[in-house]
Amino acid sequence: MHLELILINTVKLNKQDILKALKTITVPGEGENMVDSGAVTNVVTFADEVIVDITIKNPSLQAKKKTEVEILQTIHKEVYEKAKIKVNLKVDAPAAPSKNEIKGKPIPGIQNIIAVASGKGGVGKSTVTANLAVTLAKMGFKVGILDADIYGPSIPIMFDVANERPLSVNVDGKSKMKPIENYGVKVLSIGFFTRPDQAVIWRGPMASKALNQMIFDAAWGELDFLLLDLPPGTGDIHLSIMQALPITGAVVVSTPQNVALADAKKGVAMFQQESINVPVLGIIENMAYFTPAELPENKYYIFGKEGAKNLAEDLEVPFLGEVPLVQSIREAGDVGRPAAMQTATPTEEAFEALTRNVVQQVVDRNDNLPATEAIKITTMAGCSAVNKK
Ligand SMILES: Nc1ncnc2c1ncn2[C@@H]1O[C@H](COP(=O)(O)OP(=O)(O)OP(=O)(O)O)[C@@H](O)[C@H]1O
Ligand SMILES: [Mg+2]
Repeated sequence: MHLELILINTVKLNKQDILKALKTITVPGEGENMVDSGAVTNVVTFADEVIVDITIKNPSLQAKKKTEVEILQTIHKEVYEKAKIKVNLKVDAPAAPSKNEIKGKPIPGIQNIIAVASGKGGVGKSTVTANLAVTLAKMGFKVGILDADIYGPSIPIMFDVANERPLSVNVDGKSKMKPIENYGVKVLSIGFFTRPDQAVIWRGPMASKALNQMIFDAAWGELDFLLLDLPPGTGDIHLSIMQALPITGAVVVSTPQNVALADAKKGVAMFQQESINVPVLGIIENMAYFTPAELPENKYYIFGKEGAKNLAEDLEVPFLGEVPLVQSIREAGDVGRPAAMQTATPTEEAFEALTRNVVQQVVDRNDNLPATEAIKITTMAGCSAVNKK
């Protein structure tokens, strides 16, 4: 034992050997080896220890793990099998898509507001919102959720913050609501201001006033994305919310079932109607198929196959991806820790793919369309006028 220790301590690794070994590794998606591509930013050796600093572009946890494992294996194989290696891996995430940079600032600090809608209730809007949010946060974006579901706010439970109440903080001499933060996501919910047993009857203008306060009188700080979890349906209340807020784009969640698809279609039509005119970023198919945990390869198309995908094609809006129906997604929602936080699972993968598509659509949207403006409807002497703010 003593002898072995002495032996290990006499090993002197050198930087050139390590770099030579790292040159045999290709960064995923970059064709070049990680030294020539500039991904390896620093290598330090000391006796039998190596520290490798590396920056990769792909923010997925799989890519990170794969890169790290490859570095360890290669140095152990090519240079010294007992080398003690520390890999400092940084992700150079895709630049936050910013409409403010191009179009001026609709809400100070908030770059993009994404509405999550469905038409039909219970298809998984809140579940998708929660998982999109944690995935965006993992990718390095600054994210908030505004739970606008006046009928049944569920985001506080999904983030395990149902018993919290936002505090008031002073920002530039003004008192503002401080969102509750968990898992790197800032949350405000209409549920923080009502008791769970209290039936709340909101009319459109009241709801949009409350939501406006939660946006404009809240200390969100800098956000790349504010996700808006809408109540189910396409009624009056939605119009009020949509008209009051400068929404960058909307995603519509549907199951593949016909009744859900019919309502999703109404949802898309609502965003596209002339007085609303919010770009539809795409459709998400939730509960696309059932996969039992013990048989992960098996897919059962309980609600029909690819219904939402086909609807996206028919309506000529992007299809953003599918989420399987798995027990762990429901359980994770109930215990207040979104399923996409569990690493190296098919669920995490599904949400990562979906989130990348959403980000891409936001980038395209901001490149190609003018900023959505809030529309204020004022009623004067019995006639209603629609004014762009
Ligand atoms: N992919 C999924 N796999 C398993 N369970 C899911 C999945 N998506 C949603 N659920 C479960 O289905 C139920 C409804 O989901 P959720 O509350 O997200 O729907 P919603 O559209 O927000 O509903 P509402 O219209 O009431 O706001 C929840 O119990 C949730 O955990
Ligand atoms: Mg909901």
